[in-house]
Amino acid sequence: MVKAVQWKEDCVRILDQSRLPHEVTYIDCTDYLMVAETIKTLKIRGAPAIGIAAAMGLARTAQDIEASSYEDFVKALKPVMDTLLQTRPTAVNIKWAMQRMTRLLQKNRDETVERLKELLIEEAKAILEEDIEVNRAIGVWGAQFIRDGDTVLTHCNAGALATGGYGTATAPILVALEQGKKVRVIADETRPVLQGARLTAWELMQAGVDVTVITDNSAGALMRRGEIDLCIVGTDRTVRNGDVANKIGTYMVAVLAKENGLPFYVAAPLSSIDFSIPSGEMIPIEERSEEEVTHISGKQITPDGVKVINLAFDVTPARYVTAIITEKGAFRPKDIKKLASEGINLEELRIKA
Ligand code: MRU
Repeated sequence: MVKAVQWKEDCVRILDQSRLPHEVTYIDCTDYLMVAETIKTLKIRGAPAIGIAAAMGLARTAQDIEASSYEDFVKALKPVMDTLLQTRPTAVNIKWAMQRMTRLLQKNRDETVERLKELLIEEAKAILEEDIEVNRAIGVWGAQFIRDGDTVLTHCNAGALATGGYGTATAPILVALEQGKKVRVIADETRPVLQGARLTAWELMQAGVDVTVITDNSAGALMRRGEIDLCIVGTDRTVRNGDVANKIGTYMVAVLAKENGLPFYVAAPLSSIDFSIPSGEMIPIEERSEEEVTHISGKQITPDGVKVINLAFDVTPARYVTAIITEKGAFRPKDIKKLASEGINLEELRIKA
């Protein structure tokens, strides 16, 4: 399995996704500033993966802090957390990871600083391990929606590279294949950074999955020709009313799916669900550099001085989403907010194929 991020004795090892598919190289980050830079520059990307990398960056840097009290230790960690939180605004996973590390520190405030350092490492490693298990569970709940012989369209990269391993949107496909179903994948190339063409295609080929790359503007035509049976995408932040932020272009795919009567599924670990935000309009949408649009492989393709809009994400309203597949089951978007409450009857809420 491809590993986007790994904990090493003296560094956080990050697979440099900006060089894929041509080169498999790693960046050994020895502190949070290096981790923050790799996140900002998309050397590691994908909502769960950047959450894990941020947790590991924090744990790594914590080892070098000299503090004699809990208060001094936490004070020294504050700017580290702030820097990591400011790297990318749309995915909620960095915030989720920092909150988890903060809760751990608060719960163990009576421990020595040396013990707190160990606990941060254990927690960062646990976040990675749990993410793989969560994805596997998403796969098991999601595979029921894939029939033998289906073709699944996906957008961007929500595979192993975007997570601790196994992927979110790719998990149902991998489980369906393990179940002996014949499944074909169509990957939107996903302009401008080409996560679909470069990353999804590469990692699925490595895993022996039948994958075909299309230009983003081909999806509608292929749906009309009956060549796509369902869509599964990941999410950077899904909110209380079931609205889904994901890579720019996801909204177009969802609208086209509805127009063509195709199911549109979102694979969302609970770490990507922001129960604090009521609706999608409140999700901060990252805008990236003009150069991502004006240049391809370093070569300018647009006229000098042309104006550019480069939104990295869009929001798909809940009405276009057939189901949100989490590690706890698949749910209608309107029911997703109920997962924040304790003691709910999940079996009553789950939807089945
Ligand atoms: O800008 P990126 O490459 O970080 O965007 C990633 C996506 O939009 C993914 O589809 C999303 O994070 C889900 S990953 C499981």
